[in-house]
Order: sequence, then C-alpha cells, then structure tokens
Amino acid sequence: MQAKVVVVGSLNMDLVARAQRLPQPGETVVGSGFATVPGGKGANQAVAAARLGASTAMVGCVGDDAYGAQLRQALLDEGIDCQAVDTAPGLSSGLALIVVDDASQNSIVIVAGGNGEVSPQWVQQADALLRQAEVIVCQLEVPAETVAFTLERGRALGKTVILNPAPVSAPLPAHWYASIDYLIPNETEAFTLTGLRVDSLDSARQAATQLLAQGAGKVIITLGAQGSLFADGAGFEHFPAPQVLAVDTTAAGDTFVGAFAAALARGEGERQAIAFGQVAAALSVTRAGAQPSIPCFADVAGFAQP
Ligand code: RIB
Repeated sequence: MQAKVVVVGSLNMDLVARAQRLPQPGETVVGSGFATVPGGKGANQAVAAARLGASTAMVGCVGDDAYGAQLRQALLDEGIDCQAVDTAPGLSSGLALIVVDDASQNSIVIVAGGNGEVSPQWVQQADALLRQAEVIVCQLEVPAETVAFTLERGRALGKTVILNPAPVSAPLPAHWYASIDYLIPNETEAFTLTGLRVDSLDSARQAATQLLAQGAGKVIITLGAQGSLFADGAGFEHFPAPQVLAVDTTAAGDTFVGAFAAALARGEGERQAIAFGQVAAALSVTRAGAQPSIPCFADVAGFAQP
C-alpha cells in the first residue's frame, strides 16, 4: 500500500521511571516504577498516524542492538512501512531517559545513537516514498541538515509539509520557514523560536503572528490542557482541549501531530484535523508511556466528553 504519511525522524527506546516529583539538580529521588517503552518523536508520530487510519512509512535509523530490533518491530506491528529504517553498524539505538511525576509531567534526556545517522543522502534514497506521500512530517531529533533537506524536498514535490520543532534550543534557520505548511510548536518551543513567552492565548497569538511573518504557511501552537491555537493569514482560532484525567503527558504532542497528519492525508479540512488531533492527544495522556498510550481510530471516533 502507498504510504500517505511519511515521517522522517527519530526512534528511541524510552527508559521511564515514575517518581513523586522530578529531581532537582544534585538530588536523588526514590522512584516508584520503571518501564522500557518504544518511543522517539518520529516513531511516535508514525504510530499515531498509522493507528489513526493513514498508511504510513518511516524514514530513520536504529542501532544494531536489541533495542533497535524492538523499535523496528514495534513499527512493523503497526503496519508501518520500515523499508527506509536503516541499521547503523556499531552504534546504539536512540535512547530517552524519562522521569514522570505524580502530576503527570515529565523531563526527558535523549541520546541520539542511530538517529544521528539519518542523513540527507538517506532521505534522498527514500525519495520514492516521499513522492507517494500526501503529508511529510519532520521533528528535530535527527540532524538539522536532514530536516532542512526533507522540508525542501517536500516543498519541491508539492507535498503538505509539517514541522514539529521538537526539541528545539535555538531559532530555526530563516530559510526553513518557506518550506513549512504547518509549523506545530508547543508553548516552550514557540518561546524558543520567537523570544515571546507563551503563557496565555494572547501571547500565543503574538508568537503565532511572528512565526507567520517569518514565513510559515500556518501555525498551530499546542497549549497542553488549554488546547491549541491555529493561525493563518486570515486570523486565529482557539480549539479548547477535551478535559480528561492525565496520567502521563509523554507523547501527547506526538499523538496530536500524527493524528493531524493522518486526518489531512485522508482529506479532512485542517479545522477538523485539529479537533481530531486534540481528542487523540487527550486520550493519550490518560495512559502511560509513549507508543502504548496512542489511541486507535475507534477510540477517537467514539470519544465523548465525560
Ligand atoms: O515526545 C516524547 C518522546 O520524546 C519520547 O518518546 C522520547 O523518546 C523523546 O523523543
């Protein structure tokens, strides 16, 4: 089957500890549980797109270790095309060290491993997949030159190009913006990209205005429990989030991005796609872990606000 959503990005094994609260610098806290869970922003977004109805392909790289085999198998189990998931000899797979606290917040440290080997040449070799796609999705856990190449190639092929700028530590190169149809940062990422602190709908509007002025086609700032703000040249729209009891917010943003991409790929309008993504993300925070928390299509379609 032709992949309608192609994700170029990371695969990580998540080593997840639960603790009452996140440790301060220099502090040791006692944990209450541990799990090894398939994750990585790219792979999570691919799983979300696949579970939510899109034929999906992943372009990435794992290490030649046991985690690499498990990460690949996790995607294959979802029916995701992994022909462009390479294995880097002599390297470990991407890792994420995650602590989740009792307030369901997390802190994450990632180590790139095989993700650092996803080169522009590797994406070029996957050009047949990019050509098939309706929607191409990138994040920032693979090398920046690879993201730049993918955005430009997606634009040249006339595809819908989504960038989830996560994680981000500096403003994006100015020339990237022209290739991005949908830029989807959270509040922290929007702050890093614009220098504007995003802590209200008003400040989100200001940040989105700046991102549009920099050249992004459309902007969706995800606001956690506050939902999301959509902005295009014509104005803004706030989408409130469904209210749920959060257990673990890991991969909520990834679930939103993958769900949004899947909905666009099946021809839904962007507003419908945002609403769909928000329900999917809300359901994901009611379950623990990255990929295990991502809902399927029937869960989202059957969701009714309690
Ligand atoms: O967005 C959540 C993801 O961030 C985790 O699965 C972890 O692997 C990191 O990439």
